[in-house]
Amino acid sequence: MVGRALPRHSSELTWGDYLALLAPRTATLQEAWQGRLGQARLLPTPTGRHALWAFLEQAPLKPGDEVLLAAYNFHPVVQILVQRGLVPVFVDIEPQTLTMDPDGLPARVSRRSRMVLVTHMFGHPADLTRIGAFCRDHGLLLFEDCAHAPGTLHQGGQVGSVGEGALFSFGVYKILNSLGGGMLALSGPDADRFAVPDFAVRRGPGSLLEPLTRLMFSIGSTPGLYGRTLHPFLRLCEDRLPRLARTLDPTDNDPAYRFDPAGRAPFRPFMAGMLRRQLARLETNVARRRAAAEGIRSCLGRHAEDLWLEPDHHGRSNASYLGVRLPDAARGARLCRARGVGCREREYLDCSRLPQFAAWAADCPESSRAEREILRIPSYPSLSQPDQERVAHAVLQALHR
Ligand SMILES: Cc1ncc(COP(=O)(O)O)c(C=O)c1O
Repeated sequence: MVGRALPRHSSELTWGDYLALLAPRTATLQEAWQGRLGQARLLPTPTGRHALWAFLEQAPLKPGDEVLLAAYNFHPVVQILVQRGLVPVFVDIEPQTLTMDPDGLPARVSRRSRMVLVTHMFGHPADLTRIGAFCRDHGLLLFEDCAHAPGTLHQGGQVGSVGEGALFSFGVYKILNSLGGGMLALSGPDADRFAVPDFAVRRGPGSLLEPLTRLMFSIGSTPGLYGRTLHPFLRLCEDRLPRLARTLDPTDNDPAYRFDPAGRAPFRPFMAGMLRRQLARLETNVARRRAAAEGIRSCLGRHAEDLWLEPDHHGRSNASYLGVRLPDAARGARLCRARGVGCREREYLDCSRLPQFAAWAADCPESSRAEREILRIPSYPSLSQPDQERVAHAVLQALHR
């Protein structure tokens, strides 16, 4: 039976969080994070991408320098490296965590290597112990992509302060959602030398429409409302306005994508207020997400062995994204959606195979396999026991049909 539609993601903001939108400045980022990132200097940016851009602009890097990163990645991150004249060098991932495989680094490092960009994909901690040691041994900068990773722990501490810099993202589809915004965390000895990034913003109707669209998506993905609001709206767009549907909910590669530093609204003071509220309950949020994921896993019974990843292999995952491995994720996604279970196939891609990065193509079989096989399924805190059973049954149906 198809029950009410379940979103694939919800940050589950309270009405109080939304009210913080109207509040004057209530906190700085430094106050909101309360030392979770050690002594890191925290700078607000319009998005996580802007944080990477700002870091690359000011770090000791020059055109032609090589940056090693996982091939299974968010393609705009690779595009940003390319736009700054850097050379992406793709490394394969560990199949069980979807994060950079440190065993792949020695074969890819060269005299031109200057930095490693490590992504805590799906909120799974990467092997920072080995990757950090590799960077120290080879004199490389380390940058952490923590877009999925608030609440992700490595050796008991929040990830994002092992390297010289880290990006965080607070978009609508993230575990911390301030309706946009991002953050650059600087932990290296030169942290104080970085200027506060100041991005020009292009004015126009888009600058008003953008935050309103985000507010609509955020409220619309509240689990109790989703089935009556965002879900029918997106289905209607898919049927009648496929181009708008793809813009609102992109599902695939876009070779024409270019990062535009002036293309997004700035970080606004209310965002830090929203983040402070959510950070105060981050541990509870993570515990509930982990419990929801565990509930789904136990409903999968003996099949969990084939389907499940190892999110806690190098620390503790925040369960912000839950991925399962199916022989054909695209087919699995169709079957799950038909049962009202929100999901996403090909959420991340093997960037070493994308046409726009053909000049730097590499052979990364685990990344290609992840692109084909990983299906992202719901794992938010309020997913009830019957919801967990529904998600698990949809996945099992996808496995057996
Ligand atoms: C892995 C990863 N890195 C970086 C980003 C960039 O974050 P933002 O959308 O805030 O620019 C995202 C966004 O989804 C992401 O998934």
